[in-house]
Amino acid sequence: MSQAPHIALLGVGAVGQLICHQLSSVGSEILLLTRSKSGLQTLTYHPISNADTNVSAYTTISHQYHCQAIEAVTVEQLANIRLLIVTTKAYQVVELIKPLLAILRADCHLVLLHNGMGPHLALSAMLAQYPNIGLSLATTSQGALRLSQWQVKHTGAGLTHLGHSFGKPMADNYRQLLLKAIPNSHWQDDIISSLWQKLAINCAINPLTAIHQCQNGALAAPQHQDTIRALLLELIPVAKAQGVELEFASLLEKVNQVISLTAQNYSSMYQDIAHHRPSEITQINGYVSQSAQQHGLQTPHHQAMLNAIKSLETANRLSALSR
Ligand SMILES: NC(=O)c1ccc[n+]([C@@H]2O[C@H](COP(=O)([O-])OP(=O)(O)OC[C@H]3O[C@@H](n4cnc5c(N)ncnc54)[C@H](OP(=O)(O)O)[C@@H]3O)[C@@H](O)[C@H]2O)c1
Repeated sequence: MSQAPHIALLGVGAVGQLICHQLSSVGSEILLLTRSKSGLQTLTYHPISNADTNVSAYTTISHQYHCQAIEAVTVEQLANIRLLIVTTKAYQVVELIKPLLAILRADCHLVLLHNGMGPHLALSAMLAQYPNIGLSLATTSQGALRLSQWQVKHTGAGLTHLGHSFGKPMADNYRQLLLKAIPNSHWQDDIISSLWQKLAINCAINPLTAIHQCQNGALAAPQHQDTIRALLLELIPVAKAQGVELEFASLLEKVNQVISLTAQNYSSMYQDIAHHRPSEITQINGYVSQSAQQHGLQTPHHQAMLNAIKSLETANRLSALSR
């Protein structure tokens, strides 16, 4: 590698590897910040196909490329990073970035891409001490499945929205690069509004599929539709209190469109609970409940989803301890 890369990815899981492939495809060199692996790594990307999830069925159309990986704590190489894209789970973002702020370049730009909301608020407060570090936010409906450590399958096309959040705006060359690299990506002047729309969809689909242990398509049933309506009706005034106007009928239509288009899929929260991993419930329904409280609003259905998923997480932890 001739020169140390200026772009790094922190959180090189399913979405991170998808974005890494997309940036590599337009000629960018990406430094991977991992928690364990160092050295030159060979990554494999499998494009969207109708093939089943058997790896051997689509290795012939896969694309291989190389990236340098370092442990996220390696100070010297972080000093070269001008754009840091963070694609960890929402609950990992703040604790991972906090120690890096003092060692990143003074003018580094951060991009957060995760489901749920909240980490940007904690991070914006921390960034007050770093006036030249800017923050952008992103949300994606692309789908990605990690098949092994360095192997990802692109499971769904979808829109990606990016936009400015805090501090110095992203340099134009990086903005153009991201829009060129990520298919169906758009720069949004009001990114918070896009995040609320995605949040509403996640609030409606994710906890219900995890609680009822079902595929997304099962939520078309009338008993779930009642709960979905109640969740959206509670969320809309909370978004409004934060300056975001959402319309019930179009939001419900969007949620049902996603339910129908992804009928065979298991949501990420279903999978997290099924595999005894922590879920992003605190940043999804939990964010709505917490924001509602700050505005004196009631969100009993979101609170019920939060409590139910937290109970499942606790049960999973206890069963792991008793093994
Ligand atoms: N997958 C999708 O289709 C999809 C679609 C839309 C949005 N999203 C959202 O995108 C976000 C990322 O999802 P994902 O599916 O990509 O999750 P993921 O596969 O679990 O990736 C998270 C990555 O973060 C890394 N990480 C955790 N702690 C770390 C640390 N201390 N240092 C360095 N790396 C660390 C993990 O490393 P290890 O490899 O060591 O575990 C993992 O590679 C989530 O908010 C998710 O809801 C996902």
